[in-house]
Amino acid sequence: MILMDNVLILSLGLLAGCALALSWFAGSDAPFVPTKSDLISKALRAAGVKRGKVFYELGSGDGRVVIQAAKLGAKSNGIEQSWMRVWYSRYKSRMAGTNKQTHFCHGNVFDRNYYPADIVYIYLLTPAVHKLEAKLKNELNKGAIVITQTYHFKNWKPFKKMGEKHKDFRLGGDFQFYRV
Ligand SMILES: C[S@@+](CC[C@H](N)C(=O)[O-])C[C@H]1O[C@@H](n2cnc3c(N)ncnc32)[C@H](O)[C@@H]1O
Repeated sequence: MILMDNVLILSLGLLAGCALALSWFAGSDAPFVPTKSDLISKALRAAGVKRGKVFYELGSGDGRVVIQAAKLGAKSNGIEQSWMRVWYSRYKSRMAGTNKQTHFCHGNVFDRNYYPADIVYIYLLTPAVHKLEAKLKNELNKGAIVITQTYHFKNWKPFKKMGEKHKDFRLGGDFQFYRV
């Protein structure tokens, strides 16, 4: 009987572990694939992220881009639909000493308005990027900059391009920069 109980507890634990591990990568408009760390700073600097700027990342993953923008001096915001990643981002920002300049919100990127943003960063799949293209056109102030990674806007003309697309996404993607 005790053996049966132990097997049941072990199986439930394993199941919960697998569900947790799988949910770490899940995302409705893109799975969790982080931007390569060594590309983040380059892209943010190229977009003019610095002190006095307001930065937003739509689908902020594990918080690495938001934290880097805060390190460059910006007031830095992330919107992310995974609670796990939001809490992990907050923890990482505290550890990095940037928690006063970062704000991580749990939610859907389509449920918010981004008019305060000077710079917006997006790394989501094509359908979401196209929906955001129209949304941001209406909401952002003139002069605001949008950075897209790997999946780009269809109609806006980029003023700058950086990096290259690789077949293997682990090698990093390319960036396009648009001005409203
Ligand atoms: C490709 S990853 C990019 C992560 C991060 N931006 C980076 O570059 O390292 C996409 C992230 O967006 C999140 N996401 C997908 N759809 C979303 C939505 N509708 N609202 C909020 N977050 C979303 C996923 O959970 C995932 O963490």
